[in-house]
Order: sequence, then structure tokens, then C-alpha cells
Amino acid sequence: MEVFLTIAALQAALSEAKAKGFGVGLVPTMGALHAGHLSLVQHCVADNDVTVVSVFVNPTQFNDKNDLLKYPRTLDQDVELLTQAGCTYVFAPSEAEIYPEPDSRQFDFGQLGGVMEGKFRPGHFNGVAQVVTRLFDIVKPDRAYFGEKDFQQLAIIRHLVKQLQIPVEITGCQIVREADGLALSSRNSRLTPKQRSNAPIIAQTLFESRKFVSDWSVSDVKKWVIETINGVEEMNVEYFEIVNSQTLQPIADWNECDCVVGCIAVFCGDVRLIDNLHYL
Ligand code: PAJ
Repeated sequence: MEVFLTIAALQAALSEAKAKGFGVGLVPTMGALHAGHLSLVQHCVADNDVTVVSVFVNPTQFNDKNDLLKYPRTLDQDVELLTQAGCTYVFAPSEAEIYPEPDSRQFDFGQLGGVMEGKFRPGHFNGVAQVVTRLFDIVKPDRAYFGEKDFQQLAIIRHLVKQLQIPVEITGCQIVREADGLALSSRNSRLTPKQRSNAPIIAQTLFESRKFVSDWSVSDVKKWVIETINGVEEMNVEYFEIVNSQTLQPIADWNECDCVVGCIAVFCGDVRLIDNLHYL
């Protein structure tokens, strides 16, 4: 495995691989890798001759400066894990490499962008689109891999690829969870031991709430999930929405569509965690 810090060096290696007819897969990450990221890498390695994993903490997607400052950076450990996972090239660029000039592009995600993360983290998805389109442009992958953990991000990337007609196949990969249900996240390392022991209530409540779908209304399920989680010390639900998983618009009735997902953001102390679960 090789680690590249510059676009030129990465592209030189990639053009050799492409000249041999090798298929190229890309896994964009912000590092601090865990088993969730590595499951994306496993899919990528299985489907492609060459796997590129980018490690770049993208400043333009952080609407909260403090979150950006506190974001864990563990490149040496990431490189170790990626070597074991069978990755071919790691791309770990500097900010100047990705943004030689400030990126002023504004993207339009239609109705996908105005809800949930789009509503509570203004500018976040615009920053994600800036970096992901930049990475697609640099790597020109045949396939790219994203986690369902960031359900709205995955929907937005699929939309973007269609809208801009980018020739890349997008694969969504299932959420990887701890044994107690907590969705793996780089932010979990910032939880205090007490918060860490309380955090699984998020996933456990979502799973539990699936049992009520046939008997309870959408609004009653929503209310129960929010109240149950808010009842735990230091936990504060920012939003919980039950939405059509294609349009991401909230549903009022279970019969409205046959693909429904519940998406949640919870502050656990000052650590913001997100999760989601399919109902239908
Ligand atoms: P990051 O949070 O590092 O996540 C990188 C990829 O790993 C994303 O596609 C995310 O959905 C996936 N992932 C994270 N935790 C996961 C889990 N528990 N199970 C399955 N997949 C998981 O998402 C980003 O970075 C950035 O926004 C990025 C796309 C790299 C653009 O900067």
C-alpha cells in the first residue's frame, strides 16, 4: 500500500493502473477509522482492482468550528488499518491541495437538502458536495462507497451524481454497530465513560420502536422515541424524523409509502451522534 499526499503523485499511480485496465474504487473518509469505515473498504476491495481511500478532514462541511477542531486525527493508525484491509492507495491531502482557492460552488439538493441534517447543519451538505465532487474529479473512480450511517448524505450523493452526470457507480453499505447497538462513529471516542454507557439507548430505542409500527400512529412513535431518549441523563434529541427513504420528506401515515426510515440526531453531552433505522 502507498500513501500519497499530493494529487500529482496519486494521479501518476492511478494512470498506470488505469492503463492496465484496472477498475478503481474510492472510499472517501475523514479518517479516525473504525470497523464502519473498514466495511466500506472491504466492499471496495472485493469489487475493484484498485482501492483508493481518501483521508481528509474537510473544513468546508463543518458548520461548527469547535467540532472541526475536536475532530480526531489518527493518520498513522489509519494507515496501519488500511494496510491490513487490503487498500491499494491512501490519499491524505493537505487543505491547500484540495482547495488551492476557496471553493465558492453552491449545490442544489432540492427537497433532499432542506430537512434533518440539512436543516440543523446549514452548509454542511454543500461542503460535503464540494469535497466529494473534487475527489471524484481527482480519482475518477468507477465505483464509490458510502455508509448508510449517514443516510441523508448517501441520498444527496446519489442525487448529485445523477444531476451532474458523474460516471461513477455509488454503493451504499449497511451501518456497522457495536455489540450494544451503538452505531460506530469517530465521535464515539469523545464520549465520557458515562455517556458511552448511555449512548446505546439511541439505537435500542429505534429498534424497540419498530414493534409499535402496526399499532401506533407515526406521530405517537415519534413522540415515544424522543421522550424515551430525552429521559436519559445528558441526552438531548435534536431531531427525530420518520421519512420516506427516497424523498426524505416526513410521512404522516405508515401507508403513505413502502420505504420508511427513522433518522435521529442526539446530543450526548456536547457530542452529536446520528443514527437511523428502516421501519418499512
Ligand atoms: P466519515 O464520517 O469519515 O465517514 C466516511 C464514510 O464511512 C461515510 O460514507 C460514512 O457513512 C461511513 N461510515 C461511518 N460510520 C459508519 C458505520 N458505523 N457503518 C457504516 N458506515 C459508516 O462521511 C464522511 O466522512 C464525510 O462526509 C465524507 C463523505 C468523507 C466527505 O468529507
